[in-house]
Amino acid sequence: MQQYLSQAPGPIGIFDSGYGGLTILQQIRKVLPEYDYIYLGDNARSPYGSRSFEVVYEFTLQAVNKLFEMGCHLVILACNTASAKALRSIQINNLPNIDPQRRVLGVIRPTAESIGALTKSRHIGILATAGTINSESYPMEIHKLFPDIQVHGMACPMWVPLIENNEASSEGADYFIRKYIDQLLDKDPEIDTIILGCTHYPILLPKIRQYTPSHIQIIPQGEYVARSLKDYLRRHPEMVEKCTLNRSCRFYTTEAEEKFTESANIFLNSSVKVEHISLE
Ligand code: DGL
Repeated sequence: MQQYLSQAPGPIGIFDSGYGGLTILQQIRKVLPEYDYIYLGDNARSPYGSRSFEVVYEFTLQAVNKLFEMGCHLVILACNTASAKALRSIQINNLPNIDPQRRVLGVIRPTAESIGALTKSRHIGILATAGTINSESYPMEIHKLFPDIQVHGMACPMWVPLIENNEASSEGADYFIRKYIDQLLDKDPEIDTIILGCTHYPILLPKIRQYTPSHIQIIPQGEYVARSLKDYLRRHPEMVEKCTLNRSCRFYTTEAEEKFTESANIFLNSSVKVEHISLE
């Protein structure tokens, strides 16, 4: 075990490549407001979606180690790309050496668990980054639980850059939003449920809704991830003892502080104070 890690209780860590994890943090704080949180966005190196397995693993491990050093015992990868490409490797290869009592959880499994109750046609679509789609993590996790559901994925490589560059509401965004939805529905017209399998995408929800036929339901994953975390803490009182309860939330970014504050204020609809942090 790494000697420098404090065993004192600490906040819950929430990590994303950029702003997307804020959509998960918001839902988690609704369901579990009593806890303390640290949000870490690797905005300077976002997007992760088109990066290789090795790079996403390396960056995510750096972030997890940083959150552990900051006192977290439990870290949520509020990022599908990191959950798809780094979570299992960190759980199997790194956690036993870092501290076997600490935990890292992802967002794909809780989302997959919720799908069975959502679709009637048993045909679902996943919109996500190229990294998440190519990893096949969603079909694998869904088929373990619901082998009868047909899953079609569509990578949307232009969506995260639109959000990270504050262009989510601009007219230019419409072309790319419509394009990927049309391509997904061309693959399978029987889709009745679309999962937003990237934590950034709820920020585009009004435009995604606009270009999706009204009989198709669009599911952001925050609510399901939050519910699953609540259930996890109920089943793990030993982890609850390692979490502090002061209702606080601190924000850290690898980008310039002003840039993060400006965008985070828009996404969260409230003003946040952020500190710059380096992961390298
Ligand atoms: N928000 C992330 C996800 O859920 C990653 C987006 C990116 O950095 O490409 O996949």
